[in-house]
Amino acid sequence: MKVLVIGGGGREHAICWKLAKSPKVTELVCAPGNAGIAGVARCVNIGVMDFEKMADFAKKEAFDLVVVGPDDPLAAGLVDVLEEKGLRVFGPRKNAAILEGSKAFSKDLMKKYGIPTAAYETFDNPEDALAYLETAKVPVVLKADGLALGKGVLICNTREEARAGVKTLMMDHQFGHAGDKIVAEEFLTGREVSVLTFVDGKTIRVMTSAQDHKRAKDGDQGLNTGGMGTFSPSPFYTEEIDAFCREKIYQPTVDAMRAEGREFKGIIFFGLMLTADGPKVLEYNARFGDPETQVVLPRMKNDLTEVFEACIDGTLDQVELEFEDNAAVCVVLASDGYPEHYEKGFPITGLEAFEGQEDCWVFHAGSKFDADGRIVTNGGRVLGVTATGANLEEARANAYEATKLVNFQNKYMRLDIGKAIDEA
Ligand code: AMP
Ligand code: GLY
Repeated sequence: MKVLVIGGGGREHAICWKLAKSPKVTELVCAPGNAGIAGVARCVNIGVMDFEKMADFAKKEAFDLVVVGPDDPLAAGLVDVLEEKGLRVFGPRKNAAILEGSKAFSKDLMKKYGIPTAAYETFDNPEDALAYLETAKVPVVLKADGLALGKGVLICNTREEARAGVKTLMMDHQFGHAGDKIVAEEFLTGREVSVLTFVDGKTIRVMTSAQDHKRAKDGDQGLNTGGMGTFSPSPFYTEEIDAFCREKIYQPTVDAMRAEGREFKGIIFFGLMLTADGPKVLEYNARFGDPETQVVLPRMKNDLTEVFEACIDGTLDQVELEFEDNAAVCVVLASDGYPEHYEKGFPITGLEAFEGQEDCWVFHAGSKFDADGRIVTNGGRVLGVTATGANLEEARANAYEATKLVNFQNKYMRLDIGKAIDEA
């Protein structure tokens, strides 16, 4: 089977690594990929938003399966474009990817179908938003409707901050058109959990849980980032909570999308808050999480091609997911200064130490080959070092030990990834 994976971050490296283990995969290609992905797949330099070039390439190479990783091309309809060329594609079509692409859409869907989420109001002009915020309860959460690299969410502790938030999103257009419409939402407290699922339009299969650390600094301080590390499973995600979510959140979401004529096939990533009133949906994503994938796929026993194909064919009811009875921790090695200003282009050393390892891996998020063929840093998030262990504590110790194997100038990491588990 000849497979194309679209994307070039840590998530796609983990997907490619997992696909490369499948005996069914005879050829693996990634576009655009990165220097780490090049170790398991042939990388072809086509940008994820260059739909025409991507579709022509995929058609010409006659891939048996195409997997779309990132949110932007999904929301913009890359799956539809590839399907028009007759390709078999894993990922939601444009009309279903809106589940992540528009927060107003997803909130309205949850309200209509009684899926638990924070109370909210939607605004498409700053005057109405400002008037509402004069009397709204604070803290209040403001969200840009559209995709904003995970940065379009503002938690406003005071009315003053809320006013400034409206200005940032709607008047200064800091996130472009993503902020033309905003959602103002009730502030929820509790533990956050990420739950990734496979969906074939009707059936949903739930993967093991994970938790992300979004802030840049230890102790959840500093700016929001794309994610500084993850662990799996979450000790807070109990069987009881899982049963509740399956009944009240997961299956109802799949059924709601179908009822709306927006059949969802692909990954639904549920961002949940475990509140005192029960689990509530913070957000939906229409793709694998990054860096959640880097702790979930190493624990998964199934052949990933079989699960992808079952989603495409609508036969997921015949698949049971299996996960190792262990734990995994992923520590992101970033460029110091991320998510603001940072330098790149520094050589990365020690990568060969991961070759042949059975319980630790390095997934590249931002790396490339320089003119001399050396692997150098090429982003804010550079590498994700994942290790497994019998339990979270062991996995965490193993992951931090493994971070010592690789080096580059300006290497920065949080030292408390997975530490929330101590309080469980
Ligand atoms: P989102 O992109 O919607 O997941 O939001 C990013 C982050 O903002 C989440 O991971 C939460 O930490 C936080 N957040 C989002 N919505 C809320 C809410 N209603 N109450 C509290 N925190 C929130
Ligand atoms: N780690 C959060 C996300 O992928 O959106």
